[in-house]
Amino acid sequence: MAQSTGMGTSTRSLHADDVLNVVADVAPPMHLSTTFRYSDDPSALVPAAENDFTNVDPTTHYYSRVSAPGPSRFETILSALLNGKALSYSSGLSALHAALTLLNPRRISVGDGYHGSHGVIALFNRVTGLQKLPLNCDVDDLQKGDVILLETPVNPTGIAFDISAFAEKAHSRGAYLIVDSTFAPPNLQDPFLFGADLVMHSGTKYFGGHSDLLCGVLATQREDWAKQLFTDRIFIGSVMGNMESWLGVRSLRTLEIRVQRQSDSTTRLVSWLNGALQAVAPAQGSEEAVIQAVLQQVFHASVQEDQGEWLKKQMPNGFGPVFSITMKEEQMARELPSRLHFFQHATSLGGVESLIEWRTMSDESVDRRLMRISVGLENWEDLKGDLLKAFREFAGQ
Ligand SMILES: Cc1ncc(COP(=O)(O)O)c(C=O)c1O
Repeated sequence: MAQSTGMGTSTRSLHADDVLNVVADVAPPMHLSTTFRYSDDPSALVPAAENDFTNVDPTTHYYSRVSAPGPSRFETILSALLNGKALSYSSGLSALHAALTLLNPRRISVGDGYHGSHGVIALFNRVTGLQKLPLNCDVDDLQKGDVILLETPVNPTGIAFDISAFAEKAHSRGAYLIVDSTFAPPNLQDPFLFGADLVMHSGTKYFGGHSDLLCGVLATQREDWAKQLFTDRIFIGSVMGNMESWLGVRSLRTLEIRVQRQSDSTTRLVSWLNGALQAVAPAQGSEEAVIQAVLQQVFHASVQEDQGEWLKKQMPNGFGPVFSITMKEEQMARELPSRLHFFQHATSLGGVESLIEWRTMSDESVDRRLMRISVGLENWEDLKGDLLKAFREFAGQ
């Protein structure tokens, strides 16, 4: 089982896979083979019936639906970063599918969050009769083996929930807590410290970090679950691609500095917008007056109502690189992306480039005035200037 090594996050990102450096290349090679030669030494051949495929030596591979060098390297680094055994999948949703296949709950307590996760739950409802309960369901509605799926911070607003409280609720009934920590990758949040049983990520976001790969990740601190997940994945077949894992390793090297910068810039932008919304009787034409004329509300963990002690403990290094705003009018929300230069109008998040999404484009359930913003690596003052210019155009000030 991967252990916290005492090394810092970036050092782990750069060195957790040193043991896999079996060639002299400094940059890891890309392996595209789907199949791998057995040993030339007849005495070293282990027939399938005697082989424990789950006891994977990350330098030995047979067939890439079982394991392959790229995904194994990616998982080796992530195991060190997530403080649990990490398994990679073809997407975030296939990771959630694998988690629910492992736990096979009768009931799942879940909030609004990412709409796609509800699609996976609907598939399970069809196949197993899985029942959905609200996130704030009565504790007595949960039974042994049920699941709470907690997304924190939650998509699309970026508001955070208290992991410890949900862990306690689940465990008091013999249920399990899955935390979807996509919006708070290392070094922002470690859900295991607060009682999560399984940690899930859409690796498409910050692990990939460059809007060019799709993947999902599950991490567990239970050896038996890690083995079962590994076996299940062989037969579900939802492995991460070779090319994606190579890109993923390249991206993990810079995870901490990317996420830290993106999260810091987000908090600055949110504080600027929220401060302006709070200003009393701002002068005509001032930034505050312009912002008040076009913006209804700002959502982010850094300005959420519930700022209890738990929040600072859970997210000691920052509150995540995604936030949302509601515009005063739907028409402004429709037009805002086309008035911006540094925010591309697209769904998804977590890349080095800033994105903005009129969220109703991909999520039927949200307020049609809602914009989701994924802050990239641009200088935050430039992002601020870009937003302010567009807001001034709307306000005519
Ligand atoms: C919080 C969250 N979980 C899961 C997913 C699904 O991930 P993927 O698109 O990699 O399947 C997303 C995608 O946006 C997400 O935002």
